[in-house]
Amino acid sequence: MNNTPHLAVVGATGAVGLEMIKTLEKRQYPVKKLTLLASSRSAGKTLRFRGEELPIQALTESSFAGIDIALFSAGGGTSKQYAPIAAEAGCVVIDNSSAFRMDETVPLVIPEINAMDVTWHQGIIANPNCTTAVTLMALFPLHRAFGVNRIFASTYQAVSGTGAQAIEELERQVHEVVEGRPVTKSVYPHQIAFNLLPQADSFLDSGYTKEEMKLQNEGRKIMHHPTFRASVTSVRVPVYRAHSAAISADLEKPASVEEAREVFNQSTGLDLVDDPEKQEYPMPLYAAEKDNCQVGRIRRDCALDNGLCFWVSGDQLLKGAALNAVQIAECLLES
Ligand code: A2P
Repeated sequence: MNNTPHLAVVGATGAVGLEMIKTLEKRQYPVKKLTLLASSRSAGKTLRFRGEELPIQALTESSFAGIDIALFSAGGGTSKQYAPIAAEAGCVVIDNSSAFRMDETVPLVIPEINAMDVTWHQGIIANPNCTTAVTLMALFPLHRAFGVNRIFASTYQAVSGTGAQAIEELERQVHEVVEGRPVTKSVYPHQIAFNLLPQADSFLDSGYTKEEMKLQNEGRKIMHHPTFRASVTSVRVPVYRAHSAAISADLEKPASVEEAREVFNQSTGLDLVDDPEKQEYPMPLYAAEKDNCQVGRIRRDCALDNGLCFWVSGDQLLKGAALNAVQIAECLLES
């Protein structure tokens, strides 16, 4: 890989795309040139990168000539259609959608866990689901130290995980409720302001949603742990930014709270925020816009013979999407 690649961001105007641009700048990624791609609706607008206004171009089949790495975050349909075209043109695609995550020919990577999988890509590398990324940042260190057989989890997912329109929907509905006007809906099937929606994504025959099964399916692939099991309830919450999860992990080897703290403390990309006496624990409001995920509320699980409970919060637009994608692009420079 060229040491100063020509990069493209596909979906540059979206909630994740904008974070990708900021993250490239913040981490001083050695970009030779940055090409911004979105739908024809955005063509001609500009976005700022390193003090320069860059024009947004409409995505077409010929957009990828000369581009070394393309970070995709424009939805599964766009990825399915354009990622193979980009790969064919010699570009390495880092795809934030779910389109290729479970494809056996596509590595699914969280650099702190399985950076080595980047090496066997065939033109496309997948970025994990946002909740999976945030959860595994705490779960994998525990698995490495004590072995995790299975987890029971509830997730608390911010609206920005749905996209820029969902952020507007929450803000609009808060105003409508507070001002006593009728509540209007366009993104979610129910009012999200002052409510909880126990549904993220569509339902499967099993009664779980697609989103809920991603933690088990993607977790198995990323952790190289084919028997890992995860029973998850995903809840959309009226939080702008940062996902959280409450987790009960059933462990192979016994682990004390102190041992778990030690393991978390030594983990890259993870901050231990766990001082119950001072009422300190991770919260989405304070995990937002931070690169590191946060773990706390660590305790022995009173309903499992050998389990630990913990709570994790992390910015799903960063570690759950843009930051992880840029970290994969960093691995490509080293490979
Ligand atoms: P645009 O702003 O031009 O519609 P979000 O998930 O936050 O809603 O963002 C989706 C991103 O994907 C936006 O950048 C959007 O561009 C882009 N996008 C959506 N559909 C297409 C498409 N058919 N081709 C290229 N980009 C698309």
